[in-house]
Amino acid sequence: MRIAMIGTGYVGLVSGVCFSDFGHEIVCVDKLTAKVETLRAGGVPIYEPGLDEMLRRNVEAGRLSFTTDLAEAVKGAQAVFIAVGTPTRRGDGHADLTYVYAAARELADVIDPGTVVVTKSTVPVGTNREVARVIAERLAETGRDCPFEVASNPEFLREGAAIEDFMRPDRVVCGVDSEAAEQVMRDIYRPLSLREAPVMITSLESAEIIKYAANAFLATKITFINEIADLCEKVGGDVKAVAKGIGMDGRIGPKFLHAGPGYGGSCFPKDTSALARIGQDHSVPMRIVETVIDVNDRRKRRMVDKVLDLLGGKANGKKIAVLGVTFKPETDDMRDSPSLTIVPALVGGGAQVAVTDPEGRKEGEALLPGVTWEADAYAAAEGADAVLLLTEWNQFRALDLKRLKAGMRGDGFADLRNVYDPADVTEAGFRYVSIGRADAEPAPAAPAAEPVPVK
Ligand code: UDX
Repeated sequence: MRIAMIGTGYVGLVSGVCFSDFGHEIVCVDKLTAKVETLRAGGVPIYEPGLDEMLRRNVEAGRLSFTTDLAEAVKGAQAVFIAVGTPTRRGDGHADLTYVYAAARELADVIDPGTVVVTKSTVPVGTNREVARVIAERLAETGRDCPFEVASNPEFLREGAAIEDFMRPDRVVCGVDSEAAEQVMRDIYRPLSLREAPVMITSLESAEIIKYAANAFLATKITFINEIADLCEKVGGDVKAVAKGIGMDGRIGPKFLHAGPGYGGSCFPKDTSALARIGQDHSVPMRIVETVIDVNDRRKRRMVDKVLDLLGGKANGKKIAVLGVTFKPETDDMRDSPSLTIVPALVGGGAQVAVTDPEGRKEGEALLPGVTWEADAYAAAEGADAVLLLTEWNQFRALDLKRLKAGMRGDGFADLRNVYDPADVTEAGFRYVSIGRADAEPAPAAPAAEPVPVK
């Protein structure tokens, strides 16, 4: 099957490469000449484990190619995927669909009759019908006779685990409004059915909502456990035990219950904000999602106080070693990372901040002015008053704590990912704070029982 993929950003590139690995013939198209040249030479512009090897394998096999020429890419393709960016529009929180509609309009001039135009970008409800309208409008303008179909195929890839998620998805969601489009979508994903991944066929609107609802639900789950962590800190519980205890209930499930400094990344902040806007536009306020956004934003700012408390109330003149600045491990992505709130606040407060991150420096240098970059945790902690663990990279999970402490001048350790056992860190000589564990504050006395009224 021949497929064109418009956009070689994160989603487009991972999807294109994985589809070619299924055995389909894939042409990826992007307007950025330099990017296309890099890809043609076997280079991968993003950090995603396993992607470079899979890309080269399929380029060599002749199944995967890259071009800047849209007409050449879509010629003979049975399906054309639109995987361009839908950033949050400045000012109003809506998803910016400029690139999606521009691609749709251009496609009207070059697709073959019968092509299915599939939107992979995350788009608000109604966008797929609008894509169909934009194509039809352009066809009418040019007088070109070209029947086509549309489909919605949202992605659920996690950065850092994208290939695994693509190859072994919990489900594939395809929104269609014709049997012809359903057939093409089923053919595209047939290789996955051998692995028993369910392909779910829905309406265009349901598919669009599923994507936003899934991400908003997960963001809510994280935010919920983060608030429970706050409660644990005040009353003396352990959020890890609480998460385990509720997660063993099959209706709740154990995943996405790790308390931390607040969610970040390219999807949750953007999609929750877009869903809130969609709700407002349709007079169906998404109150839970709106609250989640607010609670998460405040949380990132509150994390600064946690670090300041450890430093005796002020950052001025202190040296802090920050371990990890990407929004999560196994990615170089800094988008909406908690570090972008926390680190500038510390630098602004007069702290000297030394950062180390296995992949974050490339993007992070421009985003985090005023910090120094070190090769590893030990170098960053040299002479520091406190260590701040922000991203749970494997490199930071089994540090030699005594060695780390020996190079420092202070003894603070703020572990915002609950990587360490409090007893181990304390034994190495640190004053340790983490998230939602009884180490933070002593439990207050239980309220006195009400006297039982005597009748
Ligand atoms: C997410 C969704 O998982 C994916 O399905 C969707 O397609 C895109 O958005 P991603 O943003 O790559 O993927 O990362 P994910 O692993 O989901 O983490 C998102 C954020 O939540 C990170 O900042 C992470 O640190 C945080 N998180 C995640 C928690 O704080 N606790 C958790 O239990 C899980």
